[in-house]
Amino acid sequence: MSLESIKYQRGTLEILDQLLLPLQTRYVKVQGVEDGWKVINKMQVRGAPAIAIVGCLSLAIELEKDNCIDKKVMRQEIEGKLNYLVSARPTAVNIKLAAEDLINLANTLSADENVSPSDFKERFISSIEGMLAKDINDNKAIGSFGRDAILKNLDGDGQVRILTHCNTGSLATAGYGTALGVIRALNEVKRLEHVYCTETRPYNQGARLTAYELVHEKIPSTLIVDSMVSALMHLRKITAVVVGADRVAGNGDTANKIGTYQIAIVAKHHGVPFYVAAPLTSIDLALTSGDKIKIEERPDREMTHIGEHRIAAQGINCWNPAFDVTPASLITGIITENGVFAPDRLKESILI
Ligand code: MRU
Repeated sequence: MSLESIKYQRGTLEILDQLLLPLQTRYVKVQGVEDGWKVINKMQVRGAPAIAIVGCLSLAIELEKDNCIDKKVMRQEIEGKLNYLVSARPTAVNIKLAAEDLINLANTLSADENVSPSDFKERFISSIEGMLAKDINDNKAIGSFGRDAILKNLDGDGQVRILTHCNTGSLATAGYGTALGVIRALNEVKRLEHVYCTETRPYNQGARLTAYELVHEKIPSTLIVDSMVSALMHLRKITAVVVGADRVAGNGDTANKIGTYQIAIVAKHHGVPFYVAAPLTSIDLALTSGDKIKIEERPDREMTHIGEHRIAAQGINCWNPAFDVTPASLITGIITENGVFAPDRLKESILI
């Protein structure tokens, strides 16, 4: 059975605390927007799609308890709370786009005289709830498009070796995963020989989370340290790299977990195709280039400590950007739920 990172039923929301994985499996209750902001900011839940879904569901939880009967007040509160949730982490665009859509919906429902306050509430909450199933369906489509694109260039029924970075699986989404969804889809048709996952310093999403998911799913896999990527590509034939995205600019430049950019450079050097798997909710056409993406900087402690244990020399300065931007020129294709697109044809993915 697939890991369940988000447990939701009308009125209750729990998330699997990813700070404790893989050593402990504990769910945390999210009782409203304040809790939603905290679990996202502390990275108890992380991954661009999961951040958006949990943030919006935390608002659904709060609205469910709210007895307000004034639609204008509801609309105003919704806008304020969504803007607050968006501020929890700045780089992933999914929550920002979801908030914009929901604010538009609130405006429409508020202005429509035929919609009662209870209809407003019901339609608004249902729309948020729809994000869970949509994300899983989108990920499955990404999985099969990505699988077909990778297998297209292979002779006969050859097997593939994939390298991935960070965590893009069930823990980072509503389920199935994006880049990990592509890996899953290859494994389902028995064409995956092996997957390598990077440790993903400093936060270790690869070692803690992706490795955990791969072992859980019994997918043939090996963990490597981030600095082994060049050696891996030189010594073990890698068919393709597949990573996720936190924000894809209109020109195809892609922000993803720190370290992605150097993997793309190494892949180019070795002639290995480099794919980004991203739902349309990660694509920010309003941004013309990756230079305009705001990159979150995280606390030094994530670098200086492992758990409670200090590993870096006292007094050293740290720089801890959580993401980097891979230029479109290094990307072979962007795998979306609408198909696989060359970065310079990305706009077509939205228009389908
Ligand atoms: O800082 P994180 O753990 O939220 O970063 C996650 C990533 O960079 C993922 O690759 C990205 O969000 C895609 S998740 C499907």
